[in-house]
Amino acid sequence: MAACATGLQPDSAVVVVGSCMTDLVSLTSHLPRIGETVHGHKFFIGFGGKGANQCVQAARLGAKTSIVCKVGKDSFGSDYIENLKQNDISTEFMYQTKDASTGAASIIVNNEGQNIIVIVAGANLLLNSDDLRKAADIISRAKVIICQLEISPATSLEALTMARKSGVKTLFNPAPATADLDAQFYTVSDIFCCNESEAEILTGLTISSPAAAGKAGLVLTERGCKMVIITLGAEGCVFVSAKEPGPKHVPTQKVIKPVDTTLP
Ligand SMILES: *[C@@H]1O[C@H](CO)[C@@H](O)[C@H](O)[C@H]1NC(C)=O
Repeated sequence: MAACATGLQPDSAVVVVGSCMTDLVSLTSHLPRIGETVHGHKFFIGFGGKGANQCVQAARLGAKTSIVCKVGKDSFGSDYIENLKQNDISTEFMYQTKDASTGAASIIVNNEGQNIIVIVAGANLLLNSDDLRKAADIISRAKVIICQLEISPATSLEALTMARKSGVKTLFNPAPATADLDAQFYTVSDIFCCNESEAEILTGLTISSPAAAGKAGLVLTERGCKMVIITLGAEGCVFVSAKEPGPKHVPTQKVIKPVDTTLP
């Protein structure tokens, strides 16, 4: 791809406005009770957060990507910036703040794979309108913008609205979902992509089959998005397009040997 006439970097095809979280993971034989100290057998630090994860995935699929996000002015924040650079993501609009710590998830996992998790969103919640304004150029020249809900919902909504005004395709992933999602999210989303439990929270319907997911997809489409995708794990996904009649089920292949993608 040729750089544009100004000699600046070529535009990013995919811009993610979203979260970064440092995962602090301890593996132990049993989870501690209140007041109890247990010895774990392994500890590792991982780079997580729904926004950054989606951005890294897009970069690994070959897209030129930028992230707009906020971390703390701390070692976790600086390490996170380095990590995204190593993943070929533009970090020009990755901000560091002294006012909060980098988002962190403290995770304890026992031998059965059960876990307890505390998430502190920290700096993620401080990403604001001013930050978006500074990044307005890359947002308006992107092909696709992707947002989730691990930053302040008002910031996500504003980013999607900015993109929509510039004719950029908007992809919204309402994760983690809340039943009281602002209705404007539907009307600014070209693609509204959620999983089955999120679709249940948003519609109040029970999703126990692809057919039921199709019904939920129709309900969500009627709220104003151009397309709804509901992911269904082993059942693949269902999508509903506002332009075409009826939900479509896309099955997936059976995974012979599943791996835990959260372990290094
Ligand atoms: C759906 O996404 C939520 C995050 O919003 C996650 O906690 C949950 O485990 C996911 N559910 C399924 C069935 O994948």
